[in-house]
Amino acid sequence: MATLERDVTENRGAWDVERIRTDFPVLRQTVNGKPLVYLDNAASSQVPQVVIDRGSVYIEHEHSNIHRGVHYLSQRATTAYEGAREKVKRFINAREARECIFVRGATEGINLVMHGYGRKFVGPGDEIVISALEHHANIVPWQMLCEEKGARLRVIPMNDAGELLLDEYDALLNERTRLVAVTHVSNALGTINPVKRMIERAHTHGVPVLIDGAQSAPHMPVDVQELDCDFFAFSGHKMFAPTGSGIIYGKAELLEKMNPFQGGGDMIKSVTFEKTIYADLPNKFEAGTPAIASQIGLGAAIDYLDSIGREQAAMHEQELLHYATERIAAIQGVRIIGTAREKASVLSFVIEGVHPHDIGTILDQEGIAIRAGHHCAQPVMQRFNLPATARASFAFYNTKGEVDALAETIEKVIEIFS
Ligand SMILES: Cc1ncc(COP(=O)(O)O)c(C=O)c1O
Repeated sequence: MATLERDVTENRGAWDVERIRTDFPVLRQTVNGKPLVYLDNAASSQVPQVVIDRGSVYIEHEHSNIHRGVHYLSQRATTAYEGAREKVKRFINAREARECIFVRGATEGINLVMHGYGRKFVGPGDEIVISALEHHANIVPWQMLCEEKGARLRVIPMNDAGELLLDEYDALLNERTRLVAVTHVSNALGTINPVKRMIERAHTHGVPVLIDGAQSAPHMPVDVQELDCDFFAFSGHKMFAPTGSGIIYGKAELLEKMNPFQGGGDMIKSVTFEKTIYADLPNKFEAGTPAIASQIGLGAAIDYLDSIGREQAAMHEQELLHYATERIAAIQGVRIIGTAREKASVLSFVIEGVHPHDIGTILDQEGIAIRAGHHCAQPVMQRFNLPATARASFAFYNTKGEVDALAETIEKVIEIFS
């Protein structure tokens, strides 16, 4: 606790992390008799009270189906749901709200593009370019497409720091390339990819680009018009909103050309047994009853992020990353995996002679939650000849005191196994 107190003093006047922490009820608990230190934010971040409350208001006062009812509750639910879409539009600076399609998360968003765009516009001999840093969510759908269409998956390699080799990327782009799909931030290593430059290069070949923003949207400002990306996917549960919420953004002219993802209610203008006419955007891509409460929660999470100041939050996370990197890299026997010059708040590491699952288990005994495994990025692990890493990932509510607790417990792990 002494370190936590020190941290409050350090942050006073700048980022009042202890004040921010009071917004998150889950952080108040103890785990195994120790204060919870939650460092698994890249998997799922925690939800502030205002977002929880917004979900309760919906369930207590507004619960009903959207778009279909003339009655009071349905109108309230529809207004809240479409209001959340407007918030998302502002959050990523989309040109129009109809370009923001509600999905369950980044995985569903990428699959929507694979089915709606890929299956329509990719054929035999065509190529899809992804990178060596991708999460399985941005590999497997494209592999499935390539298998179905007789197309080829090309992969941008990376160096030992975990940075993509841009000359190799340039060399992969050609007249057969139909899509580039690349992550903004690597969930396994933290690398921030130079996506704006990568998008520019793809566009010189007339190739559209999908950005997997699952790890960037929660931690840095995103402006889809400035990036000029064609698609951008993210998940609500990684950005302080409930599970089941998320977005696939797409430029309207592309979404309009695409096939729907799923068929059903709410995505049609008219249906006869002979022919169905699809609804306009965004409904064309939102078949069936969506996760109304979760998406309204995503809107509330965006309001919350705006209220605390996204830039200050990001600065605090960068400070934590630098502090943690120095503190943990200094421990003998620890090796940091992923040393790119541009990194977001993810710190992957291994300890000589200790399996990452053992690291995770011992940390858990001290109330410290990290992730141990392949992080749904097995090709990244293969690139570094590792079965797994331990990964601490930070949010703006984490403290230097928590980093100290992590470092001290890692030292204990090394002692136990020495
Ligand atoms: C970079 C990246 N892409 C995609 C995903 C998939 O997100 P979800 O499981 O929320 O669909 C994740 C989840 O960890 C991720 O980190």
